[in-house]
Amino acid sequence: MITTKKLTAKQKIIHYFEGAGLDYYYWDKAFNMHFGYYRRGMNPFNLPKLLNQMNEEVLQRLYLEQYVDPTVLDLGCGLGASSRYMAKANQEAQFSGFTITPWQVDFGNQLIKEEGLAERVNLYESDFANLPLGDNSAEAAFALESACYAKGNDKLEFAQELYRVLKPGGRFVLTDGFRKHNNPLPSWLDKVYRKNMDCWALTDLADINLFIAVLKKIGFRNIKVEDASWRVAPSFAHIPFVTLRFWWDMWKKGTIGKLDQERKNNALAPALGMIMGMSRKHFSYYIISGEK
Ligand SMILES: C[S@@+](CC[C@H](N)C(=O)[O-])C[C@H]1O[C@@H](n2cnc3c(N)ncnc32)[C@H](O)[C@@H]1O
Repeated sequence: MITTKKLTAKQKIIHYFEGAGLDYYYWDKAFNMHFGYYRRGMNPFNLPKLLNQMNEEVLQRLYLEQYVDPTVLDLGCGLGASSRYMAKANQEAQFSGFTITPWQVDFGNQLIKEEGLAERVNLYESDFANLPLGDNSAEAAFALESACYAKGNDKLEFAQELYRVLKPGGRFVLTDGFRKHNNPLPSWLDKVYRKNMDCWALTDLADINLFIAVLKKIGFRNIKVEDASWRVAPSFAHIPFVTLRFWWDMWKKGTIGKLDQERKNNALAPALGMIMGMSRKHFSYYIISGEK
């Protein structure tokens, strides 16, 4: 068994997503590894619809219609579920996904092939803070619940790389959980937060004020910050049921005692995330968009 204590932050992330990756199937059969977005009139019990609505919200904010055959980057792409969704909705764009987890590249590209999208969607192994791309190479980029894995609480390196690879005028959209200010948390909440970070192999969520200041300083324009905490709440409400289904399945298979730590953590983290989500004074979920 690997002891994660000696691993670097990056190795921990890879170890976590390699260990717990397939369990995201309990959250979504298409492997959307993010929260959902609720609009009035939607059925809040239909989790796959909520998850794809988040993809749709991001897609709409990218304004891809203004380009001919745009190149779109999916930074921290997981198994490429968002790119697969968007490639079906927009038949002209080319999507390149980047993840540091090698297993996600292999399995994600297999899913892309099975859906007949391999000509327009490809996943690559790369750090999103050091992309194998030239300056000004993409019309648009998005990062769904992945920028949180970038270094520091201002995510400076991630933001700089995003700016470098976007063409002038190119748009970005990012969705994530953020800390609202960098004041110390009450000790009970700090424990929940630290445990949640540990379970999801995170170091620190971005601080919203520091992150926006960094975006502005780098040169991004027309930055829009939307608090989507209530929009994602209906998908949060699915967490206890998904978690119960996971444990029930593990119990039926007789594997509870044999689960490795990553899989146990992955089942615990969303519940801790729910507690953090209720503490609106300290945490919020934002959709941030802007252009170079
Ligand atoms: C919670 S998952 C989100 C996946 C995907 N965006 C989605 O919504 O389905 C976070 C993703 O970020 C990736 N990631 C974390 N750190 C990264 C880094 N430094 N460079 C590239 N990808 C990274 C992980 O490998 C994982 O694929």
